Amino acid sequence: MSTPEVLFQRLQPIPPAHPRPWFPTLPVIGRAGGAGQAFPVASRFLAPDTLMVPSGKVATYWALRDAGVGPGDRVAVPAYHCPTMIYPIVALRARPVFMPVERGLELTAGAVAEALRERVRAVILPHYFGFVQPDTEAVMAACRDAGAVLVEDCAHALYARRGSALPGAWGDYAIASTRKFVPGSEGGALVANQGQRSHPRREPGWTDELRGLWRLLGDAAEVGAIRWPAATPTGLIGPPDEAAAAREALPTPAPAAEIDASACDRLALRSVRRLFANADHDRIAAVRRRRYARWAEALGALPQVRAFAPTLADDQVPYVFPVRLSSPQAQFRALKYRGIAVWRWDHLAQSRCAVSAELALSLIQLPCQHSLDDDAFERLVREFTLALS
Ligand SMILES: Cc1ncc(COP(=O)(O)O)c(C=O)c1O
Repeated sequence: MSTPEVLFQRLQPIPPAHPRPWFPTLPVIGRAGGAGQAFPVASRFLAPDTLMVPSGKVATYWALRDAGVGPGDRVAVPAYHCPTMIYPIVALRARPVFMPVERGLELTAGAVAEALRERVRAVILPHYFGFVQPDTEAVMAACRDAGAVLVEDCAHALYARRGSALPGAWGDYAIASTRKFVPGSEGGALVANQGQRSHPRREPGWTDELRGLWRLLGDAAEVGAIRWPAATPTGLIGPPDEAAAAREALPTPAPAAEIDASACDRLALRSVRRLFANADHDRIAAVRRRRYARWAEALGALPQVRAFAPTLADDQVPYVFPVRLSSPQAQFRALKYRGIAVWRWDHLAQSRCAVSAELALSLIQLPCQHSLDDDAFERLVREFTLALS
C-alpha cells in the first residue's frame, strides 16, 4: 500500500542568514539559574514503569504501534502541531485526520467526536506548552466509547498538573519529551496506563553513547555554558539567501524516514537516563515558574505582544511562555536577526483549520528553562523587548 501523502508548508520562509542564537534553546549541562524556593514536582513520568526512549517522537511511534495503528489507519491529531507529532503517523503509513483547535488552543470534545466519526484508531491529545486540556476527561470518555486509543502528548507537560491529577495518567498511552526539561543529548518517555508496550528495549551501543556525550558537551560549549575544546560554531545560520528561503516555504511531503530506524528500537542513552534520574526536578520546576512570571511582568505592558496565559495556577509548571505577536511577519524576522531563537510552529501540515494557520505565524514560544543563568535570562528579556520596539 502506498503511503498517503501529507504535505507540510512553511507559512513564512525562515529569514536567511541570521545570527546563530547566543543562548540555549533547550536545557544544557553546566549552567543554571538560581532557584529560590524549590517547587515540589509530581509527574506520571517519574514513576518506575516509565520507559526512557530516544525522543518524544519515538515514544509516539510506539504508542501508536501498540494501539494497533498500521498502514491505511486513521489517527486524529490537532491541526496545530509540531511536525514531530505527525512523523510517527507517516512512518506507520497511517493517515492523519486533522482536528481544529480553538483560539486558546483547546481541543474540544466536539472536535474529537467529529474525528471519531471518521473511525480513527487513535487520538493524540497534546497539553500545549504545559497547559492541561480542559476537555481531557470528556475526550477520554469519547475515545473509550468509540473504541479509539487515547495517546496523551505530554511533550510540554512533564511537570504540569491539574490539582492532584497528573497529565500522562489519563491516556491509554502517554509520551513525554524529557530533553525539553532536563539536559540530555536526546530523551523521550513512554508510559502505558492500559495495554501492552512492545518496545524491544535494545540497549544503545557504545558508539551511540559516545556520540551522545560529545553532543551533550558540544551543545553546552556552543552557548558558553562549559569550556570545551570542541569548535564553537560562529556565524550565520538559516537558508543562504531570500531565494533559498522562498524555496523552503514550498509545500513538501512529510518524509517517512523522519523516524530514525536505528534509534527507534533502543532505549534512551545511559547518560540520558542517568541525567534524568538524578535531575533536581523540584529546582528545574521552580526556575521555570519564576521565568514564566518574569516574562509576564516584562511583557504585560508591551502593546506589540499578547500573553497567551498571563498567570500560572499555583500548581502549574510551564514548558515555555507562549505569546502572540501583533505583526508576526515583521516581528519574527526582527527577532531572528537579533539572534533570538524563539520557536514558532510555522511548519504545518496542510489542513482546513484557519485558527491553526493564524497561530502558526503569531504564536511564539519564549524559553523558561533553567539552564539560562539569571544574567543571560535578563539579557534575553531585554533584547526581546528591544527587538520588538
Ligand atoms: C507537542 C509535541 N509533541 C511531541 C514532540 C516530539 O518530541 P521530541 O522532540 O522529543 O521528538 C514535540 C517536539 O517538539 C512537541 O512539541
